[in-house]
Amino acid sequence: MEEKVRLFYILNVVVASVVAFRQLIFNKSTRESYSSVLGPVNAVKAKRKWSNAINESRVFLGQSIAEKLVDNSSHTIHETLVPNIVHYIWVDFGGVYKFTFLNAVSFISVHKNWKPDEILVHVNNNNRPHGQWWDYVTSHVTTKIRFLEYNMSQIDIFGEKPKYVEHIADIMRLRVLKEYGGTYLDSDVIALRSLAPLRRYDHTQGVGAMSSGLSNGVIIAKKSSKFLDIWLEEYKMYGKEHVRSLWSYYSIERPRQLLKRQPELVRIEKDTLVRPLVGMYRNMETRQNVWKYSYSMHVWKRKTFIPERPDQIKLISNQSLLRDVMEYVVFNKIPFYAKNDRKAKKSSQSRKARSRESRQ
Ligand SMILES: *[C@@H]1O[C@H](CO)[C@@H](O)[C@H](O)[C@H]1NC(C)=O
Ligand SMILES: *[C@@H]1O[C@H](CO)[C@@H](O)[C@H](O)[C@H]1NC(C)=O
Ligand SMILES: *[C@@H]1O[C@H](CO)[C@@H](O)[C@H](O)[C@H]1NC(C)=O
Ligand SMILES: *[C@@H]1O[C@H](CO)[C@@H](O)[C@H](O)[C@H]1NC(C)=O
Repeated sequence: MEEKVRLFYILNVVVASVVAFRQLIFNKSTRESYSSVLGPVNAVKAKRKWSNAINESRVFLGQSIAEKLVDNSSHTIHETLVPNIVHYIWVDFGGVYKFTFLNAVSFISVHKNWKPDEILVHVNNNNRPHGQWWDYVTSHVTTKIRFLEYNMSQIDIFGEKPKYVEHIADIMRLRVLKEYGGTYLDSDVIALRSLAPLRRYDHTQGVGAMSSGLSNGVIIAKKSSKFLDIWLEEYKMYGKEHVRSLWSYYSIERPRQLLKRQPELVRIEKDTLVRPLVGMYRNMETRQNVWKYSYSMHVWKRKTFIPERPDQIKLISNQSLLRDVMEYVVFNKIPFYAKNDRKAKKSSQSRKARSRESRQ
């Protein structure tokens, strides 16, 4: 008995030390949480330039097998670009779903910062977004917004009825991207830098709260993206096999597993599309990194205070990234820590010069 207890104790100490060591090495918040990409081979230069990029050796030691494989990938870059169009999917069955101020900030940020040729909103029948905050969008956004209508109650997943409402939008975003190409984003994602650099890749996604998965909150893809085909193929098993969590399996976990086999199909932007997590909003280095490197961020709306009107933005702590970003999108205010960088100077120049630049 005593032997067992001692063994248990030793085991615990070993586990604790390993955990502590990992914490020390890999989870130093500022290092671990802000990498550039899970390393495409061609990103050596980018890595050098982005001084906060995760250290290669850390990537190798600190991440899961899947990430290791991804890290060894080579990513195809072709001359053709992902079309400069943005897709939202608006699933509203009763015509009652509330379009919020946060949703409006998302649309306005896309217009200002991504400057797409067109925004497509895929809606159920004629249940378009409406209300005060939709009117706010139409008064601020001059990018063309086009609606495409579907009868979403007829959508099935290879013969199976979607088991959660979310799964309608999950499958639709893949089908829509396969049909048009472009960038899909959730209506609680805020656009930040121009997507131009990522539109050279066949397919790009980020990692969200589930670090062993692949977030589908932002997907940048050509319609010829092979990964879309492989991913859609997996949905043939939807509802027909037992999985641990159906809610996220086909949308988040499965796609990441698929990449073990063919890591070259997707460029993974680990921290620059849907992160950081709410716990990092007040981290100064994270705020600066998001400002410098992020193409977008997902707002974790169930985990933090979300303003419902422009005048509530000032109720967010002035140490929060969310406040920085919302003030930037809504009031064109540059965060104090960015006042001297080039982007800040640029954005104080004329809008015209910026839009010319981003189209190159
Ligand atoms: C990466 O890690 C190695 C070994 O820990 C270290 O020598 C090197 O300076 C690190 N590089 C960066 C950019 O942090
Ligand atoms: C990376 O790729 C090379 C060549 O394709 C291969 O030899 C090596 O085993 C791979 N490493 C990992 C960690 O997958
Ligand atoms: C949509 O499809 C459902 C189910 O087939 C049908 O009952 C409904 O009438 C359709 N709605 C419209 C507007 O076509
Ligand atoms: C942030 O808010 C605190 C009080 O809430 C105030 O004392 C401080 O000056 C503010 N900082 C900035 C940079 O506005």
